Amino acid sequence: MSTPAANDRTVTDQRSIDPSATERDWWRQACVYQIYPRSFADAGGDGLGDIPGITSRVPYLKDLGIDAVWLSPFYPSQLADGGYDVDDYRDVDPRLGTLADMDELIAALHDAGIKLIVDIVPNHTSNRHRFFQEALAGGRGSAARERYIFREGRGENGELPPTDWTSMFGGSAWEQVEDGQWYLHLFAPEQPDLNWKHPDVIEDFETTVRFWCDRGVDGFRVDVAQLLAKDLPEDTASLPSQAELDAMDRTSGTHPLEDRDEVHEIYAGWRAIMNQYDPPRTAVAEAWVATPERRALYARPTSLGQAFNFDMLEADFDAAQYRRVIEENLAAAAAAGSSTTWVLSNHDHVRHVTRYGLPPRNGDTRKGGNSWLLSGGKQEDVDGAGGLRRGRAATLFLLALPGSMYLYQGEELGLPEVGDLPDEARQDPTFFRSPGEDVGRDGCRVPIPWTRDGVAFGFGEAAPHLPQPESFGELSVQAQQGVDGSTLELYRQALRLRRDLQAAEELQWVETGREDVLHIRRPGGWSALLNTGQQPYPLPAGQVLMASAVLDHDQLPAQAAVWIREDEQTPQA
Ligand code: NOJ
Repeated sequence: MSTPAANDRTVTDQRSIDPSATERDWWRQACVYQIYPRSFADAGGDGLGDIPGITSRVPYLKDLGIDAVWLSPFYPSQLADGGYDVDDYRDVDPRLGTLADMDELIAALHDAGIKLIVDIVPNHTSNRHRFFQEALAGGRGSAARERYIFREGRGENGELPPTDWTSMFGGSAWEQVEDGQWYLHLFAPEQPDLNWKHPDVIEDFETTVRFWCDRGVDGFRVDVAQLLAKDLPEDTASLPSQAELDAMDRTSGTHPLEDRDEVHEIYAGWRAIMNQYDPPRTAVAEAWVATPERRALYARPTSLGQAFNFDMLEADFDAAQYRRVIEENLAAAAAAGSSTTWVLSNHDHVRHVTRYGLPPRNGDTRKGGNSWLLSGGKQEDVDGAGGLRRGRAATLFLLALPGSMYLYQGEELGLPEVGDLPDEARQDPTFFRSPGEDVGRDGCRVPIPWTRDGVAFGFGEAAPHLPQPESFGELSVQAQQGVDGSTLELYRQALRLRRDLQAAEELQWVETGREDVLHIRRPGGWSALLNTGQQPYPLPAGQVLMASAVLDHDQLPAQAAVWIREDEQTPQA
C-alpha cells in the first residue's frame, strides 16, 4: 500500500512538558464535559435536575474519562432563558440545591481528579436581580438606572421603542417600564443588558469572580463575552437603526454593540483576580465574532485565556471544510498564545448526530451564525443512522486534534435532538418570541436517560421537566455500558487513549490526494484519519487503536474515522 507524503508544516508549537506548567495549563488540552444542570440527574424527585444529582453521578464522569465539567447556570432564576437570566450570581437556585451542595460537588469532583468550570452571565442580569429592582424603584434619572441601558422612546409620547432593533430571540430589543422609559435587552425582556461603563457593575462582577474562585472552582465560561462593552449615545434620535448596525464593520473593534476593543479591559480585571490563585483560574469566552483573529483576542493570556471556536458547529461533515476550520483556528489560537477548542454540540444547538442526518448547509447559518435558529429541521427528514455514523466519526477525529474538546452531556450516548416535543412542553423563549416559527433549543435539553426503563429512564423519580421519547431507553447508559461498539464505549475508549496525547500540541498534515479524506500525525507515531466521502480509503501500515465504524480489512470505510499507531518504518516520501 502506498504511503502518502508527509507535509512538514507544523501548525502549532511544541510546548515544554514541565510538571508545574502542566498543572497550570491543564485546560489547554482538556476534555471538558458540559452539564446542563436541570437536565442531568434529579435527586430531589421534582422533575428538575439538581446539584446533588450531579454529585451522585461523579463516578460516571470519572469512568467517562473527562478532565473537567462546565456547569451551565445553576443560580436562582425564573428560567425565562434556561437559567441564563440570573437573579443572584452568588447563590444557588433553591430548586437545584444550596451553596453547601455546591461545596460538596466541588469536593467530589476534585476527589475524582475532575476540575469545575462555572458559567458566568455578565451581559445581562435577570429582571429580578437586585440591581434591576433598584433601577425600577429608583425611577427615571435615578443613579440606579445608570447600571442598565435606559432610553426615552420615540413618538409623540415616547410610546415607540427607541430603535427598531430585534432581540436575539425575536421581537423588539426594548421593553417599556411603567414610567414610560425603555430598557435594552438583546435577549429576552427578562434579561436587561447591563451598562458596563458603570463602576458598580464592574465591581460586583469582580466580587462574583472572587466568590467562586474562593469556593474552589477552577474556571469560568463567559456567556456572550463579546457583548458587554457598548457605546451608545444617550440621545434616542442619535441611536443607529438596525439596518445601520447591520452595515457596520465588525472587524475593527468599534461596532457600537459588539466585540468592542475595550471589552478586554473588563477581562483584564478578571484575569488579574484569577491569576492570584494557584493554579491561576481559567476562563473560556463564548464570543460570537466576525473572524478567528477577533476571537483570538479573547484567548490572549491577558484577557480570558481561551475562546470557544464554533466553526465546527457550523461546518458540514466535509473534509475540506474541516481542514480549513482546523488550520485557521489552530493558527489563530497559537498566535494568541492559547489553545483552540472543538465543539460539536452544546445546549444551544441541534445535537450533531441530528445535524449530520440533515442535508448539508453549505455555509447557510442565517442570522449571526447562530445555528440554533435552524433548529426547525423536521424530524421525519433526519437520517438517524447516517447522522450517528457521521457524528461518531467526527467526534473521534476531533478528539485527535490539539486543543480542548468540549463535550455536551448525552452526546456520549449518541442522543439525537428531540425534534417533536409537543408545543405545550416547550420552554425556550425563541419558540415563544419567533412565534413558533423556530422551535428553539429544548430538543437538545431533554433529560439524560440513565436506565432502560423506569420513570424518566433513571433521570429521577418524577416526570421530567421536558418529556423523553421512548427511544431514549435503548440509548441509556445502562443499555450501552460494557457493550462493544456502543457510542458510550467509543467515547470512553477514546478519552482514555487521548490522555497519551495531551501533553503535546504538535500536528502534522499528511496529504492524502483525496479532498474527502484527512490524515493527521501527532507525536509518537500516532495518526488519525477521517473519510467524509463515499469511497473507502487504504489505511497506512500500523496498529489500529480504535475506529468509529467496523473496518474493512486495511480500508477506512466511507464516513468513518480511525486512530492508528503507524509503523515506525513507514517510509516518508
Ligand atoms: C448564550 C447561551 O449559551 C444561551 O443559552 C443564552 O440564551 C444566551 N447566551 C443569553 O444568555
